[in-house]
Amino acid sequence: MARKPIIAGNWKLNCLKAEAEALAKGLVETVGTKSDVDVVLCPTFTSLDTVAKAICGTKIAMGAQDCYWQEKGAFTGEIAPSMLVDAGCKFCIIGHSERRQYFGETNETINKKAQALYAAGLTPIICVGETLQEREEGNMEKVITTQVRGCLAGLEAAKVAESVIAYEPVWAIGTGKTATKEQAQEVHALIRKTVADMFGDATAQAVRIQYGGSVKPDNAAELMAQPDIDGALVGGAALKADSFTAIINF
Ligand code: PGA
Repeated sequence: MARKPIIAGNWKLNCLKAEAEALAKGLVETVGTKSDVDVVLCPTFTSLDTVAKAICGTKIAMGAQDCYWQEKGAFTGEIAPSMLVDAGCKFCIIGHSERRQYFGETNETINKKAQALYAAGLTPIICVGETLQEREEGNMEKVITTQVRGCLAGLEAAKVAESVIAYEPVWAIGTGKTATKEQAQEVHALIRKTVADMFGDATAQAVRIQYGGSVKPDNAAELMAQPDIDGALVGGAALKADSFTAIINF
């Protein structure tokens, strides 16, 4: 089955509103009508409205970088999925390794967030990935399957099929050290097999799996050519319109 590539820019903690607007407008110029690749911009919460206005009427979609699983109530500082819909989001990144590392995100909380996102009509971009130590100790396979199983436990197969999973080896994020295409493909195939074991082949063939970790214009094409790599989650190189455009035009 042909899966449409999906390339998302994870802007992390960057860009004031004016910068976010300039970046989004630059991308509207270069890839705003592109229809063979899904393009998603994930700015900070405070720039969602600005970016939503900048991409209005184009093919570019918007996502948030996190959410909470409750719809409302006494949860100071949190943002509900329905609020992300209200702000114009179609996607939401959950379980990024930085959130696992610094903010106590676990497979259980990611699972709750995925369910809440589905309920609001949003598509989660569910991140998994092993650390260098886990890889060097020979535990990559165990870590990845545990994360995929934990994050997706009990979810509806039809929803999983429409979701995006991002494989981001922690050792490749922001380090300039990309996984080789063989290393990435091996883990993507493992993720797809795990999804097949949980939900069946049709779901596994439908789910899109992005690679993330130092994706750049010069390595995007070879990564995207791998049979189980369906897109990219891009950090640093997504902060400049020219490099993100080059990745999208891989
Ligand atoms: P990077 O970040 O492209 O800067 O390595 C990717 C990510 O963390 O999503």
